Amino acid sequence: MPDQPVRDLTDPDWWRSAVVYQVYPRSFADGNGDGIGDLAGLLDRVPYLAALGVDAVWLSPFYPSALADGGYDVDDYRDVDPRIGTLDQFDRVVAALHAERIRVVVDIVPNHSGSGHVWFQAALAAAPGSVERARYVFRDGLGADGELPPADWQSHFGGPAWTRVPDGQWYLHLFAPEQPDFDWSNPEVREEFHDVLRFWSDRGVDGFRVDVAHGLAKDLSEPLASYPAISRDAVRSDGTDVLFDRDEVHEIFRGWRRVLNEYDPPRAAVAEAWAPEGRLALYARPDELGQTFEFDLVQEPWDADRFRVRILDALDFARRAGASTTWVLSNHDLVRHASRYGLPDDVDLGAWLMSDGAEPAEDREAGLRRARAAALLLLALPGSAYLYQGEELGLPEVADLPFSALEDPVHVRTGGRRKGRDGSRVPLPWTADGPSFGFGAGGAHLPQPGWFARYAAEDQAGDPHSTLSLYRGALALRASLPVDFTAEFPAGPSHVVEVVRPGWRSVTAFREPAALPEGEVLLSSAPIGPDRRLPADATAWLRDPA
Ligand code: GLC
Ligand code: CA
Repeated sequence: MPDQPVRDLTDPDWWRSAVVYQVYPRSFADGNGDGIGDLAGLLDRVPYLAALGVDAVWLSPFYPSALADGGYDVDDYRDVDPRIGTLDQFDRVVAALHAERIRVVVDIVPNHSGSGHVWFQAALAAAPGSVERARYVFRDGLGADGELPPADWQSHFGGPAWTRVPDGQWYLHLFAPEQPDFDWSNPEVREEFHDVLRFWSDRGVDGFRVDVAHGLAKDLSEPLASYPAISRDAVRSDGTDVLFDRDEVHEIFRGWRRVLNEYDPPRAAVAEAWAPEGRLALYARPDELGQTFEFDLVQEPWDADRFRVRILDALDFARRAGASTTWVLSNHDLVRHASRYGLPDDVDLGAWLMSDGAEPAEDREAGLRRARAAALLLLALPGSAYLYQGEELGLPEVADLPFSALEDPVHVRTGGRRKGRDGSRVPLPWTADGPSFGFGAGGAHLPQPGWFARYAAEDQAGDPHSTLSLYRGALALRASLPVDFTAEFPAGPSHVVEVVRPGWRSVTAFREPAALPEGEVLLSSAPIGPDRRLPADATAWLRDPA
């Protein structure tokens, strides 16, 4: 099979069309049987990732952490959590992946540290007004004795975004209290993160996924402005929102790009930014991060018109910013798409999780059919695609996790009103039996349901019709088909999305069957019927007749 430049480790543009596989380390594979996934487990599974055919692996945080937010509360940006492994093991993982020509992207969490970070501990020990406190956002409270928070800002996980310390001051945390926000107007903070980028780049890391990229710059001018609710829809789209997507954030990332370009090839970066359409692509400009996750599609139901609009918009905005698009269907914060597409369109996903899966019932068959079709459509689009561990198995959300097992702070911080994101973070089933379905020799830190057996990777690997085989086939084909950044979307029946690439095309039939155009069928998410009929909820890839 001819090689694509994307697999050439010296290619500076690899990330523009890479397929990146997200590993949530605590739930991927457990090497020592303590129930927590680790680097030893990941090392064992490098052959699996190579056989799957991904171009890169993105590791969610593996740093020392009190796990107040699944590792997104980082206590030390330059080390590995001892429960996950050591820096030596990290180097071995990077070497093993690179030997398979798989690149490594690590998560960087710059909006906040964990509360165990030495800087935050020093800030707590120091006096108000000290340089130690100036790295975070400490303020005096309101009210006669400062007993009220400095502003009405709310935490993303529920409750006030301010916590009071014993000497009476308050500190800001847009997420959990164990996640104090840095003050990015402080040059010391900027220098520190440049140094962290160099630390991992020097270790051979190829790129960074930037957590809450839209949150770093805040309007901290006094008196602090009112901002009573955190909602994506509420973000002011002119760059002057109080907390999110402010214009000044781009200057920070221009500084990052200068650091990332010190390396050869330059290190890649992708923004996790939630911003209004049109402003999102700004993070992906060539002198900034290069990529930003395209999250608009994940908000859409399984509907051809909605998909077409979102895809065309994303391509258009990316092109105008000089970027390529970064597609995604699932990640560790979202309800897995095999479940999303099996639920009624108007379902409130949060309420569905709280119902313990009872009402409304999930149609697993439809969900899987559509998830397979969506994956092929996504992988046919120009740009880069991020896959979330387990989606290649067609894994649904675990909606009925017992409340006592939940780890996500969302559950506690909303007073039990929201269940949180644990349902997409349950350790993977590698085998149909054995302790923790082959995840490790012991248990699993989140309980796996019995039906996980039906999704075991080992069984799927030997079944040509499995979802794992479909993903492998798609990635192998993607690596052999001509790929550039052009695509056409010819008008056709309204329930069909057709993507024309150089020499080949992808056809997706939403909810109703469709007639396939001419050309050899290279791959399809469901068997093609008589008279070249593509069944409902299916995608086929076709070679253009020569
Ligand atoms: C991002 C992460 C999420 C985390 C939050 C705070 O949205 O993806 O998991 O809870 O940032 O760091
Ligand atoms: Ca372990």
